[in-house]
Amino acid sequence: MLVLGIESSCDECSAAVVEDGKKILSNVIATQIEIHKKYDGVVPEIASRTHTEWVKGVVESAIKESGCTLDDIDGISVTNRPGLIGSLMVGLSYAKGLSASSGIPFVGIDHILAHLYASQLENDIEYPFLGLIVSGGHTVIGKVQDFDNVEVLGTTIDDACGEAYDKVAKHYGLGYPGGVLIDELAQKGDPAAFNFPDASLHKGAHRYDVSYSGLKTAVINQLNQFHNEGYEINNENIAASFQKAAIGMLAKRLFKAASDTGINKVVVGGGVAANSYLRSLLKDKNNLEVYFPSMLLCTDNAAMVAGLGYHYLNREEYSDLTLNAGSRVMQFKNKYP
Ligand code: KG4
Ligand code: ZN
Repeated sequence: MLVLGIESSCDECSAAVVEDGKKILSNVIATQIEIHKKYDGVVPEIASRTHTEWVKGVVESAIKESGCTLDDIDGISVTNRPGLIGSLMVGLSYAKGLSASSGIPFVGIDHILAHLYASQLENDIEYPFLGLIVSGGHTVIGKVQDFDNVEVLGTTIDDACGEAYDKVAKHYGLGYPGGVLIDELAQKGDPAAFNFPDASLHKGAHRYDVSYSGLKTAVINQLNQFHNEGYEINNENIAASFQKAAIGMLAKRLFKAASDTGINKVVVGGGVAANSYLRSLLKDKNNLEVYFPSMLLCTDNAAMVAGLGYHYLNREEYSDLTLNAGSRVMQFKNKYP
């Protein structure tokens, strides 16, 4: 089955053609980074307008690059939640229009589940496993039973991990997107220069929750309080110490979840999965079998959307034209989505 994927939940406009949920025939990613750089972050209205201008060309390029024609496509898979509502609407409306005019069925899918699926495009990973989804909008540790069944074990109670990276980078004038810039700076700094806090959140049911608000405040406003004597206060040292705390917090919860559940297989997804420290920390953990997507599949892309969509389309689960875009996660208790 050939599935056309469309992704426009934030600032990447992407389309891809994937065969049987596995083989990537094309994966066109048009990023708006250069457009949003001067604002130090994504401006939602500009993002949706740019998607409107780009989506047709991006979809046509993806079909052309795959060596197929629209007639060969069996199904359309489109991200309809969560994300920036205006951006989501562009991809979803395009998918609906294409489906209505061509008669090809479509299905709306969840962006977080798509990130989690990215590693399946490059590996055959059997369920269950622990999923770690870390992006600019989400931070979730979950027990993944199937492509559409995630039991949430922990999440952030405030900022997402990537969001904390972006906010710290913005404060220090490092540029946008902050994650990759802090990651690069951190490699030249000393993580022992500051001793930033790891919020202890062991109350209640969610023993694997994280919090980035306190860490962000400490890095932005209370540097002196956490500075270790004898170290220079420079951006490299701040970045290295922040990264150690931000990623260390995640790793600690994840290792605890692995030992508590007895599941030692871990699949990571989302923009922060590109982080060098997260990769080395998890890869060094001997008792864990860890899967990271390749760099291109960490960022927002439509191949993961097409790959995941295949599984819904394959069991004839279609969306209809009443499907709406949703900016937020629908339910967020213990079961996701
Ligand atoms: O998944 P993604 O492309 O978009 C969302 O769904 O949010 O993730 C983007 C996020 C941004 O916050 C960006 O700063 C972060 O991923 N990011 C990184 C790295 N590369 C991207 N964070 C830490 N280290 C990186 N190397
Ligand atoms: Zn994403």
